[in-house]
Amino acid sequence: MNPQRRHLLFGSASAAAVAAIGLPPLTAMAGTDGDVDVHIELHALADEVAIRPGAKTRVWRYQGKLLRGEASALDNSVGQLRIPVIRVRRGQRLRIDLINGLPESTIIHWHGLHVPEAMDGHPRFAIAPGERYHYQFTVDNRAGSYWFHPHPHGRTGKQVYAGLAGLFLISDDEEAALELPRGAQDLPLVLQDRSFDDNNQFVYLGAPSAGSPAQNRGMMGGGMGSMMARMMGVFGDEILVNGKPQASLDVARRAYRLRLLNASNTRRYKLAWSDGSPLTVIGTDGGLLAEPLQRDYILLAPAERIDLWVDFGQWKVGTELALQSLAFDGGMASGMMSGGGALPDGAAFVLHRFQVQGGTRIHASLPKHLSVLPAPKTSIAVNSDQPKVFELTMGRMTWGINGESFDMLGASALETVKLGSHELWEFRNEGRSAMMGMVMAHSIHVHGLQFRVVQRSVSGQHAGEYDSVKDGLVDQGWKDTVLVMPGERVRLLLGFSDYTGLFLYHCHMLEHEDAGMMRNYRVNA
Ligand code: C2O
Ligand code: CU
Ligand code: CU
Repeated sequence: MNPQRRHLLFGSASAAAVAAIGLPPLTAMAGTDGDVDVHIELHALADEVAIRPGAKTRVWRYQGKLLRGEASALDNSVGQLRIPVIRVRRGQRLRIDLINGLPESTIIHWHGLHVPEAMDGHPRFAIAPGERYHYQFTVDNRAGSYWFHPHPHGRTGKQVYAGLAGLFLISDDEEAALELPRGAQDLPLVLQDRSFDDNNQFVYLGAPSAGSPAQNRGMMGGGMGSMMARMMGVFGDEILVNGKPQASLDVARRAYRLRLLNASNTRRYKLAWSDGSPLTVIGTDGGLLAEPLQRDYILLAPAERIDLWVDFGQWKVGTELALQSLAFDGGMASGMMSGGGALPDGAAFVLHRFQVQGGTRIHASLPKHLSVLPAPKTSIAVNSDQPKVFELTMGRMTWGINGESFDMLGASALETVKLGSHELWEFRNEGRSAMMGMVMAHSIHVHGLQFRVVQRSVSGQHAGEYDSVKDGLVDQGWKDTVLVMPGERVRLLLGFSDYTGLFLYHCHMLEHEDAGMMRNYRVNA
């Protein structure tokens, strides 16, 4: 049965049939406000925002309403896209009600969070227009920069492109004791690329991205370019930071924390300071590193986060400093896409400018030790001498994993793990069974947990492409998303704790994911 057909069948299944195929009961989620520390209503809705001069841009976005908790728990208005930022502490009990005000089905996934199956936003939980989904869980992650976004089957790329994304920032006692920059010096920077039409509307695969479902034309809708983009991934020709083109900010001569999230559909960024100063990294996807590290540049793949510390006091008053994306070898996608957009994969551009203001310098020192982070021990894996192999594949014009594409409720024996165990998984991007030799970078994400990257190896075949990014791969710390370059094998150590059930792993280049480069894994008791 093909996945499409299977999905349709599932969509029309009766409640009894749904129960029989193992959806978790919703009863455990009932609760009143008195049981939680923070209660937020999150509306997914259509809106218009001013991004460029002239006509407003139609978007889909999240609008939060804080029903319980400290005012600091929700900020609805980061940047032009009015990106919501949820700020919580580890251990807090959280309730979030998603209310679907879109003209199509949706569901929210809490990217990077360790939550029970029914809270994870699997596409099988997608709700119809007008419906609600009730999330309730205890925040159980380390302090760090997590995020949330839609996850309906086959529509994630379109919905994220239309503007649906938010940040989920967690603090804890360990982090609070460090006195890192906070308040106005703690800046979330959401990196995205978009294409606009002459009327300032987002263009996604040849159609307006925040339009009605009826406006969504078929595979050939936007012509050959759009068919190619549906396969290779969508690249916008304008860069937005928090929804703002040509982003710029006046900064004081003191230390800042920059929390960068790559929320782009496909684009990677090769981040660097314009004056060649090294970047100082304090955290990755799953929170703080053991100690700060410095890099000349950082490669940030879709869905990855990087936490930077920067002391703008080190530059003279009046300096304009830019955070740039440097040129790199975009390989396959840059070649295929360069006809369509002004900014092919691997093109150089400025992301964000910072103007260093006058006033007294406020000295700050960066702590030498940030967190306790034991070295990953591969010997704890049940398959320590035989990693499971996941080949990233391309066949019959569609991406897959081990030659399989998405199957709503399926997980193979290879994809079944035991609760409480650790495993080694190796993702291989070697173009095995690649149609027309198509091999491109993929940004691999695993739901429900944070893993450690324990090994990378590369074959000579794609050396140029690899060499142009390799010094920017930050594998330290806890990760939930990892870039796997053409020719590479990347080995991960994963632990499956607390929750049984069906969770996703997939490529976070959203058109690849929507095309089927996504699978389930099942955690059995
Ligand atoms: Cu942020 Cu399934 O992904
Ligand atoms: Cu996720
Ligand atoms: Cu991919």
